[in-house]
Amino acid sequence: MAKILDVKGRRVWDSRGRATVEAEVVVGRGATPLAVGRAIAPSGASTGSGEAIALDAESAVRSINGRIREGLKALSVSEQEALDRRLIELDGTPDRHRLGANAMVAVSLACAHADAAARKMPLWKKLAGERRVAMPVPQIQIFGGGAHARGSVDLQDYMIVCVGAGSFAEALDWTARVYAAAGARLQKRGALRGVADEGGYWPAFKSNEEPLAELVGAIADAGLEPGADVAIALDLAASQLYRAGNYHLALEGRSLSAGQLHATLMRWIERYPIVSIEDPFAEHDAAAMQAFTRDAGERIQIVGDDFFVTRLEKLKSGIENKICNAILLKPNQVGTVTETLACWDAARKAGYRAIVSARSGETEDVSIVHLAVGWGVPQLKVGSFARSERMAKWNEGLRIEEALGAKALPYPAGKLFRKR
Ligand code: PGA
Ligand code: ZN
Repeated sequence: MAKILDVKGRRVWDSRGRATVEAEVVVGRGATPLAVGRAIAPSGASTGSGEAIALDAESAVRSINGRIREGLKALSVSEQEALDRRLIELDGTPDRHRLGANAMVAVSLACAHADAAARKMPLWKKLAGERRVAMPVPQIQIFGGGAHARGSVDLQDYMIVCVGAGSFAEALDWTARVYAAAGARLQKRGALRGVADEGGYWPAFKSNEEPLAELVGAIADAGLEPGADVAIALDLAASQLYRAGNYHLALEGRSLSAGQLHATLMRWIERYPIVSIEDPFAEHDAAAMQAFTRDAGERIQIVGDDFFVTRLEKLKSGIENKICNAILLKPNQVGTVTETLACWDAARKAGYRAIVSARSGETEDVSIVHLAVGWGVPQLKVGSFARSERMAKWNEGLRIEEALGAKALPYPAGKLFRKR
């Protein structure tokens, strides 16, 4: 079994030009290096308050080159659970502020990569083992707003889900058409300001509903049928809108009570082909989340991101109280691969869905695509269809789909999102 010979931290840069941390794990038999695994920590802008704490990049590098390096050396790299347990012990804090969740997640993922490399297989294959797996269904942002595009719309993500596509590759083909059509429509109206943090258009809209109509128009312009071929998914990241118990829509110059927002979303579900809504209410507004799950949960996917922050105890409480029916899985929200997997296991057992997700601050790191495929998580959220930190992940998905070939389980889009 390969053992960890060395762990190195390095300061690198992310898609917002901010410093972040990369970890490199060298493994070998005896003293001979055999393989290297590498991973970079991402970072969020609309972070949930329950997220594990990231240190500044310099401190994270120091914690990898110091405490983590000493703590992991000589351990077997194939024991991911034991390695992650060691990381958690070395940190010893509930919010991971001693080692830094960014240092921890980079090392945890780098260990997984190093183990796969030592076995001479891609990470997804090592994680899947003998299980047959399917490609995940992408949620892809077309318009970006909220904390990712100041002065744009209040909602964070207006995304599409190619519910009628027969493969991951076809979903990307369709997305390219819709993305281009949406850009052309904005250009024609003189409403295109640029692209937001995750590559979605940063539009000049007058209301938060307008992008929904624009999306439906763009899907049709692309020669696809709204609802049957391509549906809509939203991320309100509503904690960002929450002010003194109400939801403030700066673009429209008004605040909505939870009840009014609930009614608005129910109306939108009637009017537009929406199949999924993430964080429709704030992380501290469990009652509103519960009421919305009760009224809309049979019809659409309701995803907890800031609401669950990839924390098992929060997910369990949500399951008990019938809040949301899906969880967003972001490894850096919690700090380790093992804890992220524990959330997926618990979600699946409870009949909750899951989506592996990138952050708004990303890099060329493609680890999350491997986690989604290898663990059999049926959905993947990576941002938009522009900027290489996003495209690197979609392109990695294409490579994996090709490698899976005929051995892949059926692409799950149709099963997840029944055609309307
Ligand atoms: P974040 O946004 O990475 O800025 O938190 C992504 C999301 O909310 O899904
Ligand atoms: Zn979110």
